[in-house]
Amino acid sequence: MKSKNRVVTLSQFIAEEQEKFPTASGGLSRIFRDIKLATKIVNRDVNKAGLVEILGNYGTTNVQGEQVKKLDVMANEEFIASLTAGGDCCAVISEEEEGIRLLNPNAKYIVAIDPLDGSSNIDVNAAIGTIFSIYRRKSPVGSPATMEDCLQPGTEQVAAGYVIYGSATMLVYTTGQGVNGFTLDIGIGDFCLSHPNIQIPADGKIYSVNEGNFAQFPEGYKNYIKYCKVIDTPTNRPYSARYIGSMVADFHRNMIKGGIFMYPETSSAPKGKLRLMYECNPMSWLMEQAGGIAIDGSRRILEIQPTELHQRVPVVLGSTNMVNTLTEFLQQPATH
Ligand code: AHG
Ligand code: MN
Ligand code: MN
Repeated sequence: MKSKNRVVTLSQFIAEEQEKFPTASGGLSRIFRDIKLATKIVNRDVNKAGLVEILGNYGTTNVQGEQVKKLDVMANEEFIASLTAGGDCCAVISEEEEGIRLLNPNAKYIVAIDPLDGSSNIDVNAAIGTIFSIYRRKSPVGSPATMEDCLQPGTEQVAAGYVIYGSATMLVYTTGQGVNGFTLDIGIGDFCLSHPNIQIPADGKIYSVNEGNFAQFPEGYKNYIKYCKVIDTPTNRPYSARYIGSMVADFHRNMIKGGIFMYPETSSAPKGKLRLMYECNPMSWLMEQAGGIAIDGSRRILEIQPTELHQRVPVVLGSTNMVNTLTEFLQQPATH
């Protein structure tokens, strides 16, 4: 008989989840094993960031034209090395890689990854993360993975998750059977189930957006943000503004407490900032699996057919009632 207080590790949990699918080959579990290993190495590096000289700009720019921190490079290399050694991944696409990294042609899974999310927070010891998602290839096993394999819509994900390197390190993931969170216990060196079946409250009172861009937002977003600040006791307003600039940390807080995260299009970035493949698709699936909504302002994020690896998309993720209210503002006709 199972003890009530049994510690359930991530590996045990995944094995039990996979048992429910007799056709599962074990490849997915092994990819989780590889991601988990890289995560522990990155966690160690992240925790040392203040001690060793890995702080600061690496001196190069990534494919998005942004300054790369050394930890981004290290994290990218750790995940790719681990997935290469594991042998169950035929290709990796990464925010830090310009093109597709082809791995084992005999494997059937594609991994998309933002190895280090929130990198501007490294220097100030605030929470950062890793975001990943896993797809099954469409082309036949035995040949190199193709661009079509890599550009699948989010509805085709077979697993998605993130790691938050916060006051504790957690791994949160879904395979389409709800969202579960695991906390890294340094003492035993493993992720242990700490947040089973996470559900986002239908209502919240946190809004998360880079309000410095307010002047550049479409009118509907401006009106919604003004609405968030109005004093109205029956609807719990004003809401609280919370935004750290690490998508993983902002998402994690809002999923647990209830809230809305927005990264809209702006006049200087008409497609928004965040990337469909590495950030928005995995987070959108997690949000839906937790009972929330994920849209680009009008369309469901998961149904967008990607056309390029580093595609950007406006994104709204959050509690059902909050996103629905925002949608009403977005649907109002513009006044100028
Ligand atoms: P990354 O560090 O992977 O480039 O991602 C940073 C992203 C995301 O984590 C966050 O939500 C957003 O950038 C913050 O952008 P702003 O500084 O423009 O608000
Ligand atoms: Mn990111
Ligand atoms: Mn990143």
